[in-house]
Amino acid sequence: MSFSISELFSQHFESKFDLHEQYLNNQMVRVLRTIGYDKNYKKAVGQYLYDDAGNEYLDLLSGFGVFAIGRNHPTVVRALQETLSMDLPNLVQMDVSLLSGLLAKEILATTPPNLEKMFFCNSGTEAVEAAIKFARYTTKRARILYCEHGFHGLTMGALALNGEEIFREGFGPMLPDCQAVPFNDLPALEAALSRGDVAAFIVEPVQGKGVNLPDDDYFPEVERLCKKYGALFVADEIQCGIGRTGKFWAIEHWGAQPDMILMAKALSGGFVPVGGVAMTTKIMDSVFNRMDRAVVHGSTFSKNNLAMAAGLAALEVIRAENLVENSAKVGADIIASINASVPKYEFLKEARGKGLMIAVEFQAPRSLGLKAAWSMLEAANKGLFCQMITIPLFKEHRVLSQVAGHGMNVVKLLPPLNLTQKDRDWIVGSLDKTIADTHQVTGAIWTLGKNLAGHALKNRK
Ligand SMILES: Cc1ncc(COP(=O)(O)O)c(C=O)c1O
Repeated sequence: MSFSISELFSQHFESKFDLHEQYLNNQMVRVLRTIGYDKNYKKAVGQYLYDDAGNEYLDLLSGFGVFAIGRNHPTVVRALQETLSMDLPNLVQMDVSLLSGLLAKEILATTPPNLEKMFFCNSGTEAVEAAIKFARYTTKRARILYCEHGFHGLTMGALALNGEEIFREGFGPMLPDCQAVPFNDLPALEAALSRGDVAAFIVEPVQGKGVNLPDDDYFPEVERLCKKYGALFVADEIQCGIGRTGKFWAIEHWGAQPDMILMAKALSGGFVPVGGVAMTTKIMDSVFNRMDRAVVHGSTFSKNNLAMAAGLAALEVIRAENLVENSAKVGADIIASINASVPKYEFLKEARGKGLMIAVEFQAPRSLGLKAAWSMLEAANKGLFCQMITIPLFKEHRVLSQVAGHGMNVVKLLPPLNLTQKDRDWIVGSLDKTIADTHQVTGAIWTLGKNLAGHALKNRK
């Protein structure tokens, strides 16, 4: 009998939730069923998902930012098929591979000129782990600074730099010598750096949790202060890099030069996990400083041919389809259109962001009737109002989005970078209708609100 994945799909298509309930994370299935996200998706093309009834969904989540070029892009598919068909010698280990050399060259052509070397790994969190180790080894110092509300991954080193307690609770003790500072606060950063024991400040140029943006002078000053006190400045661009914010690297918005840039997600083309660290020659030569240290840090599957081929093809698509420019243009248009509705809606505070990394923030309303409804949700679970946006957006408008973090009233849009005018109209129109509905306290959407509050209170007990 020949082995066939497509046969497995047709035999078991209906059983994915049962399998997950029985063998994987049962709580995830409960969440999906509770909020009505339990769809049987059958196909995905570009920015769209299709369920078994043929309904089209606009994906504003893009696998947490993985599908910057859209799903199943034919250029990446061809590159992977070609790589597989060549019977290449992959992961020889006592060798160096051509594709990783080519991808390193391509990436370093996009980074600030002080970054001249690449290290590859398999995920974002592994890039963060590498940065922690490289910074410690290079500076001979231990302390790592990170930002409140920051997110850098969930392995133990990256978790020690996580700005949200919910991710850390019960997993301690954390890596020692890691200290949080407020984002966009130069005096606090200088106070922490001035102790003279900081190896690195690891920071997202645009924070993913909440889509928080810095003041314009923040990153040039971060660069200056890190240099002044001998710490390395590490930009975590795992989510905001590779075109997401309308520049190839988010840090370009502020003209700053970090000592390391961390990347992953979009580099995969949406197919093969990959991570990377672009760094100065000084850091590379410090860590890998002798022949007996040539493998002092690494990972078995890093630089594998499929990941490298996917990366090369993804960069080619971004260039050929002008996705960085499209991200800047469509993102600015969406933000401006949502902000034009702020005077209409008491709940709507603002849209903000850069390129296609967008936050839509909500706030307590002024009028009494709406205030009571808002307070009921906030008392049950801070930030619950956002679910009254994301759930109807999905159920009624087939737009897949997410809340931007725990305990905040922010919905995040993180779509593929190839959005069209039609998609832009779909997003703006469906958001407008959903927000308008939340202002009808007797409407169906508040029945959902009461149900959500009931669930939240039950979960707390
Ligand atoms: C800014 C940032 N850093 C690191 C990570 C971790 O990446 P991964 O999930 O690939 O380990 C993420 C993931 O969401 C991220 O957004």
